[in-house]
Amino acid sequence: MGLESCIRQAASIIREHEEATIISHIDADGITSEAIMSQAIAREEIPVKSVFLRQLEPDAMTLVPRDNSLKIFTDLGAGQQNLLEENGFGTDEVIILDHHISQPCNTDYFQVNGLDFGHTKLSAAGITYFVAREMDSSNRDLAKLGIIGNVGDMMARESGKLVEPASGIVEDGIIHGNVDRHSHDLNIYGISTRPVHIAMSYCDDPLIPGISNKKDGAISFLKKLGVNTRSERGRWMVWEEISPEDKKTIINGLYEQMIAHGEDPSRLICEHYLFPDEMARTALRNASEYATMLNACGRWTKPYTGSAICRGDRNEHYRDAENMLRNHRSIIRELMEYILGRGVEELSSLQYIHVGDRFPDTIVGIGAGMSLSKLNYNKPIMVMCQDGLIPDRTKVSMRTVEKVVQQGIDLQKALSEASEEFGGAGGGHAIAAGAFIPKTAEKEFVKRVNRALEEQYA
Ligand code: C5P
Repeated sequence: MGLESCIRQAASIIREHEEATIISHIDADGITSEAIMSQAIAREEIPVKSVFLRQLEPDAMTLVPRDNSLKIFTDLGAGQQNLLEENGFGTDEVIILDHHISQPCNTDYFQVNGLDFGHTKLSAAGITYFVAREMDSSNRDLAKLGIIGNVGDMMARESGKLVEPASGIVEDGIIHGNVDRHSHDLNIYGISTRPVHIAMSYCDDPLIPGISNKKDGAISFLKKLGVNTRSERGRWMVWEEISPEDKKTIINGLYEQMIAHGEDPSRLICEHYLFPDEMARTALRNASEYATMLNACGRWTKPYTGSAICRGDRNEHYRDAENMLRNHRSIIRELMEYILGRGVEELSSLQYIHVGDRFPDTIVGIGAGMSLSKLNYNKPIMVMCQDGLIPDRTKVSMRTVEKVVQQGIDLQKALSEASEEFGGAGGGHAIAAGAFIPKTAEKEFVKRVNRALEEQYA
């Protein structure tokens, strides 16, 4: 069966049921998947409810209802099929819309997963969007959420843009009229909310000599180019507001700066996805920042707030999310300062730090990624912390950069294999992965992962 017929079958299974429960993950991809699917199902006038999970694990199974509804697992489930089987779920009551690696299982659950068709850059929200569009072509308005989920799960990171079949979601959004695509644009984050020199100085992929981590460097660079970076009222413009000519001048200047320093400028350019129906200078205005807001909601255990925003709430939930985003950013900054202040331990193939119970385990991965730009960029970073729910369990997050992945490093493989040996569980992606392990195994675990990475480098 091809991907398209798999999507068709999923749509017809959903339409045949009289009620549905969506079980989804708490990150941006999971929240957008849930928001897409729950709206598509409600539009069919089928009663639907949703459950968000931090992870599909034995303790969380009690939250999955035992009733007659169809259980639709989005952004989770592929890697935990044995758990579904152990809990007595039959094939007639489960479908899985996921993009994680499948676990071999004796029960043949119906699943739509891009990986089965060689699509490694199509997140769960992408799959879910295609199923929703198949249910009714008027669901094209939900393409915007599909884009946010894909971007939030770093599907655009390697190529600087969403690629087939995810690029088709962008086309749908453009046709519907709530998505603008800015191709050949500057690869910086915060194009709708950060003053342009700040956004440039935060750029860590690629690192731009004289500008990354150097706010003053970015200001004098812009001054030297003579571009207009202030509005008529004198406030700093955000990247989105810079004129097309000035954008070109800045990009060319950065290009030359990188060449002059012997750096590869190819990652300077990317594609941005903007939402003209959202308010200017807010995080909802582009896919990357929107995804961060949803991640903030999920990581601070308010995924339903994120879901309400995806459905259009711009009042109470949105204000709540803005506060969460502010809080999210300041705690991540604190975590980063803690990691950089304490310093990491270096092994041959990784650098690591244990942050104890100082920070919530749901954000250490983000802090790990952000610290990496200020540490040895070429060595993957591992951050361990106490599990938020089970104190004798340790949460592990690892991050690396695209350049290192291209050298053969696969953090998902290293962490899932190593954690399994110690009775834990892990997963994720080559560039960003996580695991849970028993606290007593910490020391041996670090050595084991280091060995795995050594082998991958070899
Ligand atoms: O938690 P963190 O942000 O480090 O997770 C990075 C990636 O690893 C995510 O895609 C997450 O779903 C995955 N992960 C996993 N199993 C775990 C922890 C994280 O698959 N036990």
